[in-house]
Amino acid sequence: MFKFGVVINLDMQNKIEEILNKSNFDKTDLVSLLNANDSDTELIFKKAAQVKSEFIGNSTYFRGLIELSNVCTKNCFYCGIRKSNTNVKRYTVTDDEVLQTVKYALDRDWGSVVIQSGERQDSAFVNRIENLLTKIRSLSSQKIGVTLSLGEQSVETYEKWLNAGATRYLVRIETSNEELFYKIHPKDNLHNFELRKKALLDLKKTGYMTGTGVMIGLPFQTIEDLADDLLFMKEYDIDMCGMGPYIEHEDTPLFEYKDLLMPVDERFKLTLKMIAVLRILMKDVNIASATALQAINPDGREEGIRCGANVIMPNITPVKYHESYNLYKGKPQIVAETDEYIRQLELQIAEAGDTVGYGKLGDPIHFEKRKKEDR
Ligand code: 5AD
Ligand code: SF4
Repeated sequence: MFKFGVVINLDMQNKIEEILNKSNFDKTDLVSLLNANDSDTELIFKKAAQVKSEFIGNSTYFRGLIELSNVCTKNCFYCGIRKSNTNVKRYTVTDDEVLQTVKYALDRDWGSVVIQSGERQDSAFVNRIENLLTKIRSLSSQKIGVTLSLGEQSVETYEKWLNAGATRYLVRIETSNEELFYKIHPKDNLHNFELRKKALLDLKKTGYMTGTGVMIGLPFQTIEDLADDLLFMKEYDIDMCGMGPYIEHEDTPLFEYKDLLMPVDERFKLTLKMIAVLRILMKDVNIASATALQAINPDGREEGIRCGANVIMPNITPVKYHESYNLYKGKPQIVAETDEYIRQLELQIAEAGDTVGYGKLGDPIHFEKRKKEDR
């Protein structure tokens, strides 16, 4: 019996090694990698670390995350700050507060900040962001890159914000399976799968370094769906990715399906595998180690770095707002990412074999290549 077990294991291991030696991966390969057992997963992580080191080097970049506002016009079924959740105290960070956080990031030589917010398309919002970007540009003399994560907008708005100084934009597809997309979003004009995909194409055309991402461990989601998500990112030739485990929130409609979920530590492991496999598949993109990983495991983001991620987004939103940006249960509400905490992170990044890319923008190498090919 024992011998039989060993044979099976070796067979599996050979299979994983065989796949990892390929230069192209089809859906079956990706499914096998995502289904790998714990010891084979170590092989995948090792390969991802090698690819990272070879193609983008061993720098991890800090991006200061500013959660600008939890006011949102949308009603995604999974999200704690959805419009219909009345248990949320809504807030908007002032321009002066944003500029102070940008200064914090500048003083620490971080290459960029990410401005994230609930989704609004009204002109007051669009103009406010344009204005804010102009202020950030004059404060930082373009020494800091600005990434926006402000949802789907018109091409005109994307252009306006690009001209005002933003260079990168993130719109998560959440899932590339249309049927699943409509299980986790209402089916209406505001939540439209085709428009979400179009946003990614519009952003690329406008000239942004473009990022997307998915949630991992959603109810009804299969390993095949996740393999398709990876292929989707490859097909859309994205420059950046941020993906994290789905974490249920009791004030949302999707909470009703909590019994269908895999245990959180499984979702955690699967997220690390997705990061590693994406690194192997897309080699030179930027991959963020998402905050939601840290919600499950205090060292979660550092684990992500070990498995192929190269971006960490410390939350620099003024502390008084933290408790109101509750996308999911257990979101880390650290008493701010203090200097002491950042020093800890640096140590853990060093343990993972990386150094922090201080003073560099850390643009995705994938984007530079993509631009050259477009010319
Ligand atoms: N669990 C994990 N991630 C979530 N997000 C929103 N709600 C949740 C949740 N319950 C993620 C989505 C969104 C990003 C801002 O936060 O992917 O795009
Ligand atoms: Fe709004 Fe984004 Fe939450 Fe959807 S996921 S409800 S768009 S903040």
